[in-house]
Amino acid sequence: MGEAIDRVNYISFSSDSEEETLCIGRKFGAALTRGAAALLVGGLGAGKTVLVRGVGDALGAARVRSPSFTLINEYRCEKFTVVHADLYRLDDASELALEEYLDDNAVLLVEWPERWKNPPADAVKINFETTESEPNKRLIRFSAFGKKSLDILDSLKGTLP
Ligand SMILES: Nc1ncnc2c1ncn2[C@@H]1O[C@H](COP(=O)(O)OP(=O)(O)OP(=O)(O)O)[C@@H](O)[C@H]1O
Ligand SMILES: [Mg+2]
Repeated sequence: MGEAIDRVNYISFSSDSEEETLCIGRKFGAALTRGAAALLVGGLGAGKTVLVRGVGDALGAARVRSPSFTLINEYRCEKFTVVHADLYRLDDASELALEEYLDDNAVLLVEWPERWKNPPADAVKINFETTESEPNKRLIRFSAFGKKSLDILDSLKGTLP
C-alpha cells in the first residue's frame, strides 16, 4: 500500500492546439502496456478522439477515426490491438461486453465511460477540461487507479522533460 501512496497518481498537461494533444496521445500510447484500460472523460469536442489518434500513431495503427457511429473500432497493431469505444449514444453499454476486450492482447480506450456500469478497477482516467475564453486550450489530467495504471503513469512521467 505504502508504495502506491508514494508513487505519482496523476499528471496534468496543458494543450493549446490539436497538434499538442496528438503529441500527448503519442506519449501516452508509448507508455501503454498490454491489458491496459483508459477512460476518457470530457464534453463533446473536448479532444478525446484526437488523443486516441495520437495513441494510434504511437502504436502504428491506421488513422484513428471517431467511433461515434460504429461504437467500437479495432486497430491491430504490432504490440497489441487498440480497441477504441465511444459510449455516447448508449444508455447502457453492457451490450457491448467491453470487459471481453480487456485481455493481454489489447488496450482499451473508452470515450463517455460514464455509460459503462462496471468499468475496470485498474484504469487510467483522462479528464479533459475546456475554457470558454480560450477555445483551443485543454487541460488534460491523467489519473491512475491500480498497479498497472500507476506503472503506465510512471512511464509517461519518464518521457517528460
Ligand atoms: N488543444 C486541443 N486539443 C484537441 N483538440 C482541439 C484542441 N483545440 C481545438 N481542438 C479541436 O477540438 C476538436 C476535438 O474533437 P474530438 O473529436 O477529439 O472531440 P471528442 O472529445 O472526441 O468529442 P466527442 O465526445 O464528440 O467524441 C477538434 O475539432 C480539434 O481540432
Ligand atoms: Mg470522440
